[in-house]
Amino acid sequence: MSDPTFAGAGYAEGPGFNAMWRELEPLGRCRETSGYRRFAWTPQDADCRAWFRAQAVARGLHHEIDGNGNQWAWLGDRSAGGAVATGSHLDSVPDGGAFDGPLGVVSAFAALDELHRRGARPQHPLVVVNFTDEEGARFGLSCVGSRLATGLLDRAQAAELRDAKGTGLLHAMERAGHDPEFVGPDPERLAALSAFVELHVEQGRALADTAHPVGVASAIWPHGRWRFDFSGEGNHAGTTRLADRRDPMLTYAGTVLAAREEARLAEALATFGRVDVEPGAVNAIASRVSGWLDSRAADEETLDRVVAGIERAAVERGGRDGVQVAVVRESFTSRVVFADALRDRLARRLADRAGPVPVLPTGAGHDAGILAGSVPTAMLYVRNPTGVSHAPAEYATEEDCLAGVTALADVLEELAC
Ligand code: GLV
Ligand code: MN
Ligand code: MN
Repeated sequence: MSDPTFAGAGYAEGPGFNAMWRELEPLGRCRETSGYRRFAWTPQDADCRAWFRAQAVARGLHHEIDGNGNQWAWLGDRSAGGAVATGSHLDSVPDGGAFDGPLGVVSAFAALDELHRRGARPQHPLVVVNFTDEEGARFGLSCVGSRLATGLLDRAQAAELRDAKGTGLLHAMERAGHDPEFVGPDPERLAALSAFVELHVEQGRALADTAHPVGVASAIWPHGRWRFDFSGEGNHAGTTRLADRRDPMLTYAGTVLAAREEARLAEALATFGRVDVEPGAVNAIASRVSGWLDSRAADEETLDRVVAGIERAAVERGGRDGVQVAVVRESFTSRVVFADALRDRLARRLADRAGPVPVLPTGAGHDAGILAGSVPTAMLYVRNPTGVSHAPAEYATEEDCLAGVTALADVLEELAC
């Protein structure tokens, strides 16, 4: 299968965008919240992965799973090189929306169908990818599949990752039927790619009040996750005098407020979105509180300043509360600036159809940001009328999703044909 054309690969058009969306929609959705719980290497994730495989097979694409668990659906032979990749991820944050990730994967298959209908003749292989564990909801680190492939995360570090129940990442992979023997860098597969284009729902409102359903990414803010451990003294809530307490919850609360203030002053972002309390009894003062900080800023100097300020405030407050504070940086992603030449080429191509397209930075992390250090990478954003993301209200209209598919087909045609 070295002929990368649709005819050469025996391509069969698959179900349309809406049919794919309907099939994927119920997988991993929680009835009570309507949010998605598609965490890496769980049965819900397996359902999504089976869906991906079925889409590949239905189109006659060659489906493969790399050593890190990322799924690839090839039109044409990888060994030909120069492949143009597109796709995103199918996992979610806890109670996430339907679009973050899946929109890029569904649009990728739909864009191949559109190119087929256009009679496009790819000169290079095209490949749809589902990167595993982008959100890091289960093991705490985002973009695990792409970090492993690019070597930004090594096998030994991956082996240290644990979920809340203490299950190791490699063990979870194995239990889900993926042999972890080949977890690690994958330079050969990445060297076969000439470009990666990730389409994503916009996670803000930059497009919402414009006439543009699609924008192009310029940069991703540097961002990271820090675990703050506050250690005090567990004691009785009904008998311990206020003056005698060493309550880590107080220090945690003070730190959350300080984070908000540091972020406001620096025009950055700082969020404590997860907290773990021991022992977690209503009638006991906590002995330990762990809070996870997500912080992002336009540049690394500002981000360093914000996090250092939050840490200082935590230690100062801990001193007053008799609480020890320890801070561990669990992950960090540097500022990503997408390749100018590729971005400008895609923007020009999109402008042919719809006039100049907005070029936007974002505070959200993506596999595209991780791959950008190894492969020329670009992103397209599809308008989100409310800007809500990582929550069930995340949304894009059908019309805008279909405009996204057309835009993606245009840029794949530009790059591969
Ligand atoms: C992923 O969506 C992130 O920005 O954390
Ligand atoms: Mn996300
Ligand atoms: Mn995403």
